[in-house]
Amino acid sequence: MTLVIGPLDLPAHVDEALAVQAIAFGLGPDEVAVRRQIVLRHMQYPGARALGATADGLLVGFVYGMPNSRTHWWSTVVEPYLRAQGNADWLDDSFVITELHVHPQHQNRGIGRRLITLITDGAAEPRSILSAIDTDSPARGLYHSLGYVDLARRVNFPSAPKPYAVMGAPLPLRRK
Ligand SMILES: CC(C)(COP(=O)(O)OP(=O)(O)OC[C@H]1O[C@@H](n2cnc3c(N)ncnc32)[C@H](O)[C@@H]1OP(=O)(O)O)[C@@H](O)C(=O)NCCC(=O)NCCS
Repeated sequence: MTLVIGPLDLPAHVDEALAVQAIAFGLGPDEVAVRRQIVLRHMQYPGARALGATADGLLVGFVYGMPNSRTHWWSTVVEPYLRAQGNADWLDDSFVITELHVHPQHQNRGIGRRLITLITDGAAEPRSILSAIDTDSPARGLYHSLGYVDLARRVNFPSAPKPYAVMGAPLPLRRK
């Protein structure tokens, strides 16, 4: 199997990416349709970038993110939670990881670690923030091992059934 990690034209490959996210994260067809519009809008934000991992030419993982802005919807939701912890300054000068997903058949081979490390290595910002479901998941384990710490917990996004943790790390991310 030939694994290649590199820049991804996400708008051109949005359906393949969402197919990976749907199986990795568990999205139904209605959620995929909603996410599709969100991803296409996100990729028009200043500095938005995506990386993909292909195995024998098939997309098996992707990450995307952008310089954070307090005007983005995600920031407006997490801001009060961060402010309550004295961490609202993390919304400035941060590269936000919006999505990171690896197809289950290709997980635990270092692809997720490589994707998030590589995209943040290309960021001009001195730090990175993200949100993850607030539970002991492989995602949270990976983020902790890369140096992300909890900035706020039990964060509720409208319409999301589970609470999230907001995490932040200095860049470059910690190497193993
Ligand atoms: C999170 C995710 C992208 C990681 O991708 P991956 O390619 O499997 O990750 P890697 O192989 O690079 O890294 C695995 C790391 O995850 C952590 N990890 C893996 N399984 C774990 C588990 N069961 N418990 C805790 N940590 C675990 C470890 O830190 C491991 O690091 P290691 O290199 O020291 O073993 C992948 O699990 C995924 O797509 N999950 C479902 C979707 C999701 O939750 N996305 C994140 C949304 S915030």
